[in-house]
Amino acid sequence: MKKLSDAIVVVAGGTGSVGEGLVRQFLRQGATVVVPYRSDARRERLEQYVSDIEGGTLSCIAASVSDEESMSRFRVELLNRHGRVDLGVACLGGWYYGYSLHNMPFEHWQQVIHNNLTTHFLCIRALVSIMQQRNSGVYVMINGGAAELIAPEQGVVSIVAAAQLMMSRVLKQEAHATNIRIHSLMAYHPIKTRGRGSEVLDEWLTPEEVGDYVIKLYTAEAANIDKTIHRLYTRNQPPRYGR
Ligand SMILES: NC(=O)c1ccc[n+]([C@@H]2O[C@H](COP(=O)([O-])OP(=O)(O)OC[C@H]3O[C@@H](n4cnc5c(N)ncnc54)[C@H](OP(=O)(O)O)[C@@H]3O)[C@@H](O)[C@H]2O)c1
Repeated sequence: MKKLSDAIVVVAGGTGSVGEGLVRQFLRQGATVVVPYRSDARRERLEQYVSDIEGGTLSCIAASVSDEESMSRFRVELLNRHGRVDLGVACLGGWYYGYSLHNMPFEHWQQVIHNNLTTHFLCIRALVSIMQQRNSGVYVMINGGAAELIAPEQGVVSIVAAAQLMMSRVLKQEAHATNIRIHSLMAYHPIKTRGRGSEVLDEWLTPEEVGDYVIKLYTAEAANIDKTIHRLYTRNQPPRYGR
């Protein structure tokens, strides 16, 4: 029996390098996977990448996750097509390297906030609002070790990742006494995305393995399912948890 048969899964960031692997794994498990996309080229690249998978349905909807009106239209279209969302996954953002905070150009700051936080806020408004209305759903925010670690010239990434982590904790509080579960899934090491060259370690997780963990969160097969924060390291290390 496939684990996501009948599930409506939205992957915001499904066109990205981690997100596309999540989409593959969810399709393999029979899900209807809805992906908002902002460029036809990125949509076609994703469709091509999952074309070998039998089962599941990929349902792409034109929408930019960082645009308020676009996400309002996405929400309407999602409900028209599929009626609900059972699992929402936000795999959004981008890396930044360049300046110390005191030298950072204002437009860089704005761009990182836009890509790594505003996207999450609008995605929450679109998806968690549906879950709240239906009193049902699992929402998983993919994050990285930057939320709890700091490095110079890229500190802004840690700032927004820490804010993203706090978003998940706020959502958890606000989902108190509902049937909604909120998780922050933090990958502490680089993920073996298909774009990486040969500079990879065997023990790093693949996007598909991260997808498997998200499925375990959804089905409640993961240990410590009551914890908001699930930290993943390498294939050889067990997860760690936080509230
Ligand atoms: N890559 C890793 O090794 C790694 C390791 C640990 C944790 N993570 C975490 O995984 C998550 C995703 O990372 P990634 O490496 O997959 O990033 P990515 O390849 O850059 O993908 C980011 C996704 O977010 C979308 N996005 C970004 N800014 C947007 C905007 N302004 N408006 C609309 N959509 C926007 C992108 O859309 P487009 O496709 O249209 O550009 C893309 O789908 C992050 O939380 C990161 O911390 C990644």
